[in-house]
Amino acid sequence: MAKVLVATEKPFAKVAVEGIKEIVDKAGFEFALLEKYTDKAELLEAVKDADALIVRSDKVTQEVVDAASNLKIVVRAGAGYDNLDLAACTAKNVVAMNTPGQNSNAVAELAFGMMIAMARNAYNGTAGTELRGKKIGIHAYGNVGLYVAKIAQGMGMEVFAFDPFVDDAVIKADGVTPLASMEELYSTCQYVSLHIPATEKTKESINYDLLKTMPANAVLVNTARKEVIHEADMIKLMMEREDFSYISDIAPDNKNDYAPFGGRFFFTPKKMGAQTSEANINAGVAAANQIVNFINNGDTTFKVNK
Ligand code: 3PG
Repeated sequence: MAKVLVATEKPFAKVAVEGIKEIVDKAGFEFALLEKYTDKAELLEAVKDADALIVRSDKVTQEVVDAASNLKIVVRAGAGYDNLDLAACTAKNVVAMNTPGQNSNAVAELAFGMMIAMARNAYNGTAGTELRGKKIGIHAYGNVGLYVAKIAQGMGMEVFAFDPFVDDAVIKADGVTPLASMEELYSTCQYVSLHIPATEKTKESINYDLLKTMPANAVLVNTARKEVIHEADMIKLMMEREDFSYISDIAPDNKNDYAPFGGRFFFTPKKMGAQTSEANINAGVAAANQIVNFINNGDTTFKVNK
């Protein structure tokens, strides 16, 4: 009987775990759960006899893949799979998948939650500003980006996007203005919402030269990955520009360096973008279904490794 392990340091909502278990039970597989683990050793022990693994941002390293000698498939219940060692998976014939789009709305809603909190001075009673009429640049027009566009339009913002991998016609069809370069996006928009993945190419790509061109009262919203920010540049810029704010659900490593910036920064205590019951159910259930379809039918839709 195939064993499906859900290993989540940051647990899914209870209802999502129940949904996953139901699918696994119905398929006649064994269900196992490891939540809130604090030590890598717990994960290494739990994966030992697992045939399939569902994770969130949990790191599936070479060590984990090696420890999981029965492993055939790992599904990252979410979009970004920079936490999976794809080469290690491929070397061991383990199929790696993600569940694109399943948690995108939750991430987009959080981006706006944070933008409004910043625009209203964290609801401290002083006069803030409105989002209506402001320009927002969506950096990467994928699943999250298009939800951000829809919400921004509903709020009366002027919406721009840059994504070299998406046709301008697709962006235009949503009533969004495509821009030709990253530089143009940042120099045009007071608000920029980041939705790029963390790759070797994007790492630290959001740097001083780019950010310094943002218009007055600039706000960068990062619900993507902390690795894409050049942290030293960000600190330098925020020291120079008192009108620049940075909000993110992925706190930088050097959080204390932001203390001098008062109300111009906000970081959630944990990655929160996808942390809703709906997103947990969507991504978790999709992951479970993908595993059942793979084991029973060899379906490799959503495979991300070669
Ligand atoms: C994703 O890539 O899907 C999001 O960053 C969510 O990550 P999480 O599952 O760790 O909340």
